Amino acid sequence: GIRKPVVAANWKMNGNKQLVTDFLKAVADSGASTNIDIVLSPPATLLDFTQTQRDSLCKDVILAAQNMSQLDNGAYTGELSAQLFKDVGCNWVYCGHSERRHKYGESSKLVAKKFIQAKKNGLVPVLCVGETEEERKKGKAFSRLTSQIEAVINLAGKDCFDNAILAYEPVWAIGTGNAASPEIAQEAHKFIRGMVAAMRQECSENIRILYGGSVKPENAKELFSQPDIDGGLIGGASLKPHDFVEICQAAK
Ligand code: G3H
Repeated sequence: GIRKPVVAANWKMNGNKQLVTDFLKAVADSGASTNIDIVLSPPATLLDFTQTQRDSLCKDVILAAQNMSQLDNGAYTGELSAQLFKDVGCNWVYCGHSERRHKYGESSKLVAKKFIQAKKNGLVPVLCVGETEEERKKGKAFSRLTSQIEAVINLAGKDCFDNAILAYEPVWAIGTGNAASPEIAQEAHKFIRGMVAAMRQECSENIRILYGGSVKPENAKELFSQPDIDGGLIGGASLKPHDFVEICQAAK
């Protein structure tokens, strides 16, 4: 296709230095990073070490922050800024991951501010969107996606998705072992791409839209072969280097 696939490992609050090394060695040995973008987001405390290991073991792995402050710097105890992440080699950042929205109460407006902050500092934002099980049952999945995406467009402007990534992560599929079916995922991805197209046709053809939610070696191929699915955001399975590499191979 015209879009280079992306497979991103989101370790969430898991992993350690040993896993960083094992993961990078497994990716390097498998040759998985040819023709696809491989992204790793370990916990922030591991990023400096990960950058050093990445530079020696597997240069083309992209480092991502899992979350970031919307502010530049200052008296914000415990927060981490875009510049701090750039300083340890990050080029991408997730904005509005479902766990940030649902477990830490991040509003779509705050997520939009973080998205803008990423772009302003030269980081590629990965905007994560997705409906809950209840919203899907009530037939409100697409209106939820619309409001999450519109919040960013309203604050960041119509060209906001140039040089950005989108991720569709249905909340009901995250960490449950039950991924969305390829049909349901494709339908949502097509809807999201259509929203971008209505605003900027060319951007909609180029933007990569990742699927996240219980991707594993057994279901990756079918999900990634859908026309509007350009790769995945992998949680649990990214903690097993062998499984992650298999998922990467499925994206080729
Ligand atoms: O960022 C990753 C997603 O939340 C998916 O997590 O693969 O453990 O379901 P999962």
